[in-house]
Amino acid sequence: MSYTLITGATGGLGSAFARLCAERGEHLFLTARDGQKLDRLAAELRAAYGAEVLTCPCQLQESASRAALFSFARARSLTFSRLINAAGADIQKGFCEYTQEKIVFQTRVNFEAAVSLTHFVLETRAPQLEILTVSSVSGIYPMPYFALYSATKKALEHFFSALHAELRGQNVKVTTVLPGAMPTRKDICEQIEGQGLWGKIAAKSPAYVARKSLEALRKNRRTFIPGLANKLMRVLTAAIPLSLKMKFIAARWSKISKDAF
Ligand SMILES: NC(=O)c1ccc[n+]([C@@H]2O[C@H](COP(=O)([O-])OP(=O)(O)OC[C@H]3O[C@@H](n4cnc5c(N)ncnc54)[C@H](OP(=O)(O)O)[C@@H]3O)[C@@H](O)[C@H]2O)c1
Repeated sequence: MSYTLITGATGGLGSAFARLCAERGEHLFLTARDGQKLDRLAAELRAAYGAEVLTCPCQLQESASRAALFSFARARSLTFSRLINAAGADIQKGFCEYTQEKIVFQTRVNFEAAVSLTHFVLETRAPQLEILTVSSVSGIYPMPYFALYSATKKALEHFFSALHAELRGQNVKVTTVLPGAMPTRKDICEQIEGQGLWGKIAAKSPAYVARKSLEALRKNRRTFIPGLANKLMRVLTAAIPLSLKMKFIAARWSKISKDAF
């Protein structure tokens, strides 16, 4: 039996994916950092859906921890029919405020880990494989004061778009999803609230984004933006000069500072 591997499974969006896949009767292999949160989620999914769920905590930024995750799966001869790269670290602050440690952490969690896990599932794939990666609308334009996050999300879109073409005709679907704001954590809910009307219109629930993303993956869409308002935002802002867009972004995002580790 093949498994769906979900990173960031205990997070707002990752757990929405996990619930949806469990409801559909899929076998799950869930990972995040916190083993206790993973165990609680697995127990919930077993009780609610009778799902078969395996868990393995992993520090995605550490190659040794990823190697341990791969060994765990190989020791059980697991094969994978889907990978959902949902984990992400959204450190937001001026770049000069970063330490070297945080640069490495955010880059590895957001980009290197997704690429590394993708290589692993290609080696351990079922006859049909689906790869879904969570980027962000924050990757559409360069974002002053959110520069590294924005760049890693753009890098995901580039990498997985190339892979989409490279693996065409090999029974592998590859989709990158670019969500706008989702009310997952408390700080994000407050940020959405602070955006006023735009926040109300554009924010989508993790359950909605998970469902629409899996539909896009089934159709093997190269990229997908959930929600009409976010789609329109991309189209309507395309003609505005980049320098002007970045001035607007800088004015707004220089007021926000938050960390993640
Ligand atoms: N929420 C939004 O508004 C929004 C908008 C656009 C894109 N996104 C993207 O959507 C994805 C999910 O966002 P979310 O809001 O659901 O995030 P979240 O609730 O903060 O959850 C993050 C998940 O990633 C895991 N994680 C974080 N750092 C990790 C690490 N070093 N190693 C292993 N796992 C790690 C966390 O595990 P632990 O709990 O064990 O630490 C958690 O399961 C992210 O890629 C994010 O960039 C979010």
